[in-house]
Amino acid sequence: MQPGDARRRLRLLRIAEDVLGRAGYEPFETPVFEDTELFARGVGESTDIVQKEMFTFEDKAGRSLTLRPEATAAICRSYVEHGMHKLPQPVKLWTAGPFFRHEAPQAGRFRQFTQVDAEALGSDDPSLDAELIVMLADIIERAGAGPARLRISSLGTPATRARYIEELKGYLREHEADLSEEVRARLDQNPLRAFDADHEGTQRVVAEAPKLLDRLAPEDREHFEAVLGLLEAAGLAYEVDPTLVRGIDYYTRTVFEFESERLGAQAALGGGGRYDGLIEQLGGQPTPGVGWALGVERMLLAAEDEAEAPSADVFVAVATPDAARDAFLLTERLRGAGLRTEMEQAGRSMKGQLKQANRVGARATVIVGDGIEVKDMDGGDQRPAGDAARAVQLVYEVLER
Ligand code: HAM
Repeated sequence: MQPGDARRRLRLLRIAEDVLGRAGYEPFETPVFEDTELFARGVGESTDIVQKEMFTFEDKAGRSLTLRPEATAAICRSYVEHGMHKLPQPVKLWTAGPFFRHEAPQAGRFRQFTQVDAEALGSDDPSLDAELIVMLADIIERAGAGPARLRISSLGTPATRARYIEELKGYLREHEADLSEEVRARLDQNPLRAFDADHEGTQRVVAEAPKLLDRLAPEDREHFEAVLGLLEAAGLAYEVDPTLVRGIDYYTRTVFEFESERLGAQAALGGGGRYDGLIEQLGGQPTPGVGWALGVERMLLAAEDEAEAPSADVFVAVATPDAARDAFLLTERLRGAGLRTEMEQAGRSMKGQLKQANRVGARATVIVGDGIEVKDMDGGDQRPAGDAARAVQLVYEVLER
């Protein structure tokens, strides 16, 4: 992490908190590690995450634990464990923190990364899908990480998907010779991954493959049309992409991803979708859910560097060693009055202190020595203050100019 990175992260979290908070999403937290079983079942045994990318270890009692690779499974576990179905639905939650995947590190892909994750549980209303997507677009824009391309699709129900997967397997088998070895090896386990392949032959084959979107049941198609209609009404541009594959098994119906036009291979800023079967699968009542996660590091990579914001309104300079105590008290007083105040804490000369005041962006400097003087850093005039109360007043006058 570089100096300034944490400030940029915090700014992004504040934007997320603002956008999500206005839509009624409550902050929530889950542990950094959980039973391995939760992720194996929730994320899906055949996914890359579960097969290759989890940091799994045994504790002293011989239990298998895993550093969380994503948030959704754990939030659903909490929903069941804390009986959140008794609360008014939907239950809207968001969380942020570190996540872990054992992937080959490269630009925009880390083994420890940070997600902001938002979930709406307990309703399959299409306005939730649309609201979540609009909020993610909003956060991307306000973070300066746009423009981003929104790809969206629908996976229908597990039953539709199972039938479709058989059809797809049949089709892929007919073209087996043109497929990459990896896709061929996983053909029975996860033929959908063919859509995700970089391999040219595979890409040619899948371009002509039957599409799940054309096989949706009428109620799933209607749900998808309703989501798209709301996105249109909100003025959000999207591309329906029937080849959109997400690397997690719990999705049903809506899936989506935002890609930055500014990033290279790891272009996904965030993505998510609906998972109407997950809570039941984890032992709860049948409960629909929808959500997304954004990658904080990728958002910051895509965001243009904002100009360094000033860190202080006021600088308190110490003119003589004897004035250190008064300067300290005045600094506390200015901070108490709500002003961002820094004081001299490195023994600089007066010239050095004024330079430092400029560096931190202070518009007023209070010089504490035998007396107190307030200097306007823009206009340059310097006025005696008499006492601390008057100094605070003069500082306000300078800041209001
Ligand atoms: P995901 O697409 O696996 O979805 O991850 C979401 C975002 O996290 C990605 O778009 C990317 O920005 C970031 N990300 C993932 N892996 C890494 C990595 N190794 N390094 C840096 N950034 C990374 C999920 O995790 C789902 N739980 C989202 C969701 C919530 N679906 C429904 N609700």
